[in-house]
Amino acid sequence: MTGDTRKKLIIDTDCGSDDAMAIAMALRDPAYEILMFTIVSGNVEAGQAARNTLLTIERAGSCEPPVYMGARNMLLKELAFAYETHGQDGMGDLGLAPERLRLGEGHGVWRMLEALRDSGEGEIDIITLGPLTNLALALRLEPETVKKAGRVVVMGGAGFGGGNVTAAAEFNIWQDGEAAKIVMEAGLKNLMLVGWDACLGESMLMPEEIQRIRNGSELGKFVVDINRVLMGLNRERFGMDCLDMADPAAMAAALHPACIRECEKYWCEVDVSCGPGYGNVLIDRYGFSGKEPNAWICSGLWPERYKEYIFRTLGV
Ligand code: RIB
Ligand code: CA
Repeated sequence: MTGDTRKKLIIDTDCGSDDAMAIAMALRDPAYEILMFTIVSGNVEAGQAARNTLLTIERAGSCEPPVYMGARNMLLKELAFAYETHGQDGMGDLGLAPERLRLGEGHGVWRMLEALRDSGEGEIDIITLGPLTNLALALRLEPETVKKAGRVVVMGGAGFGGGNVTAAAEFNIWQDGEAAKIVMEAGLKNLMLVGWDACLGESMLMPEEIQRIRNGSELGKFVVDINRVLMGLNRERFGMDCLDMADPAAMAAALHPACIRECEKYWCEVDVSCGPGYGNVLIDRYGFSGKEPNAWICSGLWPERYKEYIFRTLGV
């Protein structure tokens, strides 16, 4: 008899429209077992992010891991939602809601810690698609328990490009810079940041690829339609109907590492000063600090491999 060889995952999300695509991909990859989703405020308030996660699980039509509420507020910073990118409900304002699934009992941070406590060394990977508040709280409560995780893959930072919410910062890090600083300085043995730059350029989904996804399955139609607000924004920014899918890029890097093109380990720190640099991830590319690297920075994917992974997992 063979045992279950699937890698175990905890996915932390502020579920907006690109989180939903990433979540659908993970749910439909048979190589992984998702133990739970934990919710954090970010793109939208956590209550809405929870509803969006439950809706996505229903639509993905695969397994149904529990969803636990996590941090509704950031550690210090006031929340600022991303309505202009994802819509008021984070899902393109189509009036969709979960029909059947409900939140699980208990706080996401405790549930995450319980699972890690009961796990073997490196048995569970953590993937974060939103601000790092839940992970930072878990680290403050039980650092050694969190350090039992295998890989910690974060969609966060602008990589080697410019920010997407300020000149310096990417949204997930900027939304809770203090939490990101705690995670960065925690001494995690295998921390990888997939920056916003990884989903740009040739990794953007082009109009014909978006049509392939939309026409390929009910789930494909769902994940494209909920991104309609972002698509409208991109029509203005880039002059065409394309999609920069930050969370799917991070998910693909985490679950299908063969699609990683550029990834190096550097010493990194998070700017939490009260100025225009707040939320910037400073990457010590040339070793000025003399410090041991603490994070892998994934700044580029092989576009074809990445997109094939999206097509395969979404069944299109
Ligand atoms: O900067 C990209 C991040 O913010 C992603 O997590 C995405 O969901 C967006 O809103
Ligand atoms: Ca997100």
